[in-house]
Amino acid sequence: MATEKRKNPFRVGGTVVGRYFTDRAVELKRIGSALGEPGAKLLVYGPRRMGKSSAIESAVWRLRRKRQAAVIADLSAATTVADMASRILQGATRQLRSSWESVVGDLVNHLRVGVSIVLDTAAGHPTLVLDVGQRNAPLEEQRDTLAEALDAIERLAEEKGRTIGIALDEFQEIHRFGGEEAEWHLRGVIQRHRHVSYVLAGSKESLIEAMTGRNRAFFKLFELLPFGPIDGRHLARWIDSRLESHGVRPQGAGRRIVELAQPRTRDIILLARSAFQIGARTGNLREGDVWRALDQVVDEEDDLLRADWERRTALQQNVLRAIAAAEEKLYSEAARDRFGLRGSAYVAAALDSLIEADLVVKLGEGRYEFDSPFMRRWVVRHALPDVGIILT
Ligand SMILES: Nc1ncnc2c1ncn2[C@@H]1O[C@H](COP(=O)(O)OP(=O)(O)OP(=O)(O)O)[C@@H](O)[C@H]1O
Ligand SMILES: [Mg+2]
Repeated sequence: MATEKRKNPFRVGGTVVGRYFTDRAVELKRIGSALGEPGAKLLVYGPRRMGKSSAIESAVWRLRRKRQAAVIADLSAATTVADMASRILQGATRQLRSSWESVVGDLVNHLRVGVSIVLDTAAGHPTLVLDVGQRNAPLEEQRDTLAEALDAIERLAEEKGRTIGIALDEFQEIHRFGGEEAEWHLRGVIQRHRHVSYVLAGSKESLIEAMTGRNRAFFKLFELLPFGPIDGRHLARWIDSRLESHGVRPQGAGRRIVELAQPRTRDIILLARSAFQIGARTGNLREGDVWRALDQVVDEEDDLLRADWERRTALQQNVLRAIAAAEEKLYSEAARDRFGLRGSAYVAAALDSLIEADLVVKLGEGRYEFDSPFMRRWVVRHALPDVGIILT
């Protein structure tokens, strides 16, 4: 029991499910019903680190408990269209085994492309790999391979008389490898399938908005599910109760954690995890401990944060200093003098680069904020003193 108490109740890294996952009732319901309904098409999109992948995974867990079949393929680290096909086939063999022992053989029967059956040693059962030549094949051929992978699942669903939900996470990558033509091709495939359903998810919002815009392949093909922050009060209460049940008296820490790290779920949970480590030493979280937890994360991530900083130009670094100091008028003469900025056109270009690099987000006209509360804190601690600003 004592070890259970000391075990960190917050988990970060990869997707979270079960007791590490909270809320998202509306989203789970929509994702779950889309995955279970033949022909349904849902697009889940929102900023990074909000918890999209975890919500999809949780929805799939629930479906499996009801013995419904679903496949998730994470396309984020794919490098070619052929890799996307591989990931879909491997996801299918891994995740449909509980529904059909014979899934590997069944899928092979439905495939024309060259595949081999190999042992997935980590999972301890056979899976499918595409012949490596596929990765270097001309793009049209790779597109056909992707279509075949999805067609094979469609035919499997038809043959078994069951719906199979297919979730494609970070699907927008198809644009990077295959451009608009690959998008149109995928649209054609998705549209002709009757026995599977599709939930596509992605976090590159501007790209997704373009892909679903007028005259583009995914225009009006999907129902849309925008994915925003978890309600702050709910999350604060959940954090408090997780702390409490693991032997740490929160004394209002949940609310401070949410305030300091919002709006991305991952950042909030990462700060909560760090706060738990501090609180577990005495069984209490005291005034100031949440700030200590923030600095602890910043210290732990120093290498990465410093590397992000060092990659920026001098002007971009000065713009980051100004944003960290909550300078509201980035284009004013006073800001120019104080932070060493240059003319408006230069500052605007620097802001564009910082947004492009996911370091800064635009909140509204002329209003900018750091993408990460940890990067913000890093700049406050390590770079603001250069311009004579010491914030504690
Ligand atoms: N509903 C939730 N309850 C608790 N923690 C969550 C929840 N959703 C996300 N998290 C936290 O956020 C982290 C990131 O979640 P996830 O990978 O699902 O987000 P994402 O939106 O898919 O991110 P990315 O843009 O990086 O793909 C998780 O590891 C977990 O710590
Ligand atoms: Mg994700």
